[in-house]
Amino acid sequence: MDPIEELRARQRTAEQGGGLERRQRQHEEGKLSARERIELLLDEGSFEEIDKLVTHRCRDFGMERQVIPGDGFVTGYGRIEGRLVFVFSQDFTVFGGSLSETNAQKICKIMDLALKTGAPVIGLNDSGGARIQEGVVSLAGYADIFLRNTLASGVIPQISAVMGPCAGGAVYSPAITDFVFMVDRTSYMFVTGPEVIKTVTHEDVTKEELGGAGTHNSVSGVGHFTAADDAECLRMVRHLIGFLPQNNREDPPRRPSADPIDRMDSALDQIVPADPSLPYDIKDAIVRVVDDGEFFEVHERWARNIVVGFARMDGRPIGIVANQPAFLAGCLDIDSSVKGARFVRFCDAFNIPLVTFEDVPGFLPGTGQEFGGIIRHGAKLLFSFAEATVPKITVITRKAYGGAYCVMGSKHIRTDVNLAWPTAEIAVMGAEGAVNIVYRRELAAAADQDAARAQKLREFRERFANPFVAAERGYVDDVIEPRETRPRVVRALRMLETKTDTMPRKKHGNIPL
Ligand code: HXC
Repeated sequence: MDPIEELRARQRTAEQGGGLERRQRQHEEGKLSARERIELLLDEGSFEEIDKLVTHRCRDFGMERQVIPGDGFVTGYGRIEGRLVFVFSQDFTVFGGSLSETNAQKICKIMDLALKTGAPVIGLNDSGGARIQEGVVSLAGYADIFLRNTLASGVIPQISAVMGPCAGGAVYSPAITDFVFMVDRTSYMFVTGPEVIKTVTHEDVTKEELGGAGTHNSVSGVGHFTAADDAECLRMVRHLIGFLPQNNREDPPRRPSADPIDRMDSALDQIVPADPSLPYDIKDAIVRVVDDGEFFEVHERWARNIVVGFARMDGRPIGIVANQPAFLAGCLDIDSSVKGARFVRFCDAFNIPLVTFEDVPGFLPGTGQEFGGIIRHGAKLLFSFAEATVPKITVITRKAYGGAYCVMGSKHIRTDVNLAWPTAEIAVMGAEGAVNIVYRRELAAAADQDAARAQKLREFRERFANPFVAAERGYVDDVIEPRETRPRVVRALRMLETKTDTMPRKKHGNIPL
């Protein structure tokens, strides 16, 4: 055959993957093909494929008769809004997207290039796991990838989109990456599937209940984002990339905004209800402060008592961490501590300044929390805020009680700028609890206990439930009118643009895992 014809023929075969019938089945299930996904993910025409002609080396089980150039994984590089990214896309139509030795090498090749060039890696997962016919060779391939995921962690952003099955040990590659997207109804992740579970624990559970997007985005926290379909998922990945630097040596990309940096918003003055026991939605405050009201929430449906996500101020990406009084009164519990800690560490690793909105009545009480290790998990949030060296700004909107005050970006753990609204209550605990403890004997002896308690509550609130005691000591740098929040935070961010801070020399800390 003419050599050029031969090349073209091999390329065509690679592009056809597992063939028309299997591609149709993929479409019928509401899933796009591996190549269609890459096209939607990357800027038009920017994809450069690598290893399109690689084949598997398995000679058992008749595999020698089923050799498809590319072996099912599509790997290479391209651009998102003009910026370099590396991508792999598992093709379920070729041996169920299973990982062969050569597929693993393809992934490792682009990961090595991504590390050398300092660019994000995006993995589109749709796979039946280790290629059964290859046995331990495939397992070795997974381990090679896990190692690279680990070495690349904190150096380049790593993003996983789970767009089909992802089961067994294979889940640990997405799990090590920074963000996991899942597609509703068509994706699932689990370490052991429903059949094994049935045998071992006699539980009946469907794939969807066990490891669908709903479960991982609202119960386990394994998933950070849910998309309605493949196209939305890929749009969301593009959107996320827009907030991130290429690597840990760069600042995140600045994007000019028409939103004036000195914009005041009088509606902020009314956001905190007069009655301190009433909830409000902290996201109403966030969108009024950030550029163009645009807030890209991470982990939207999991541990909703803390809100984390990306926004821009003055055109610069920031990471927002905020207690959510509208959910569990904004208490810190195990899940919200873990969620906050992971996000803070991501931002710190990738030079994204942190803006914290604080309204926290404390840690959630209960045996469930204590037995589950709230001490250990709450410590993660404290540790991550304390070790973060990126610019850190905290705005206390209302409650800042007890240990949670210290944890949520307090001055004492080297937060750079601490601001408080006049509604802030910075105290060891709420007035009710404090009065019951401090005045227990006095109240028990009082002739009119209710009147005595009301009097003590008033005194306590006046003395402690305000921002001024902390301001007098410089624990908050200023008490500001809520409407001023945007200009004040922008000015602080500008001041902190050249911030550097260091850690004592160490191999790494020992975050309480
Ligand atoms: C080789 C595989 C495969 C695999 C699927 N196929 N998984 N080939 N190795 N792991 C092939 C099937 O033979 C079939 O080929 C095609 O892919 C599509 O699979 P179906 O079963 O027809 O698809 P579906 O009904 O949608 O079911 C998808 C599935 C199922 C749930 C993923 O295929 C399945 O259970 N696969 C095995 C999953 C598994 O146990 N993997 C190992 C996990 S342990 P044809 O030719 O008919 O189209 C693991 C360890 C990782 O991965 C270790 C890391 C440390």
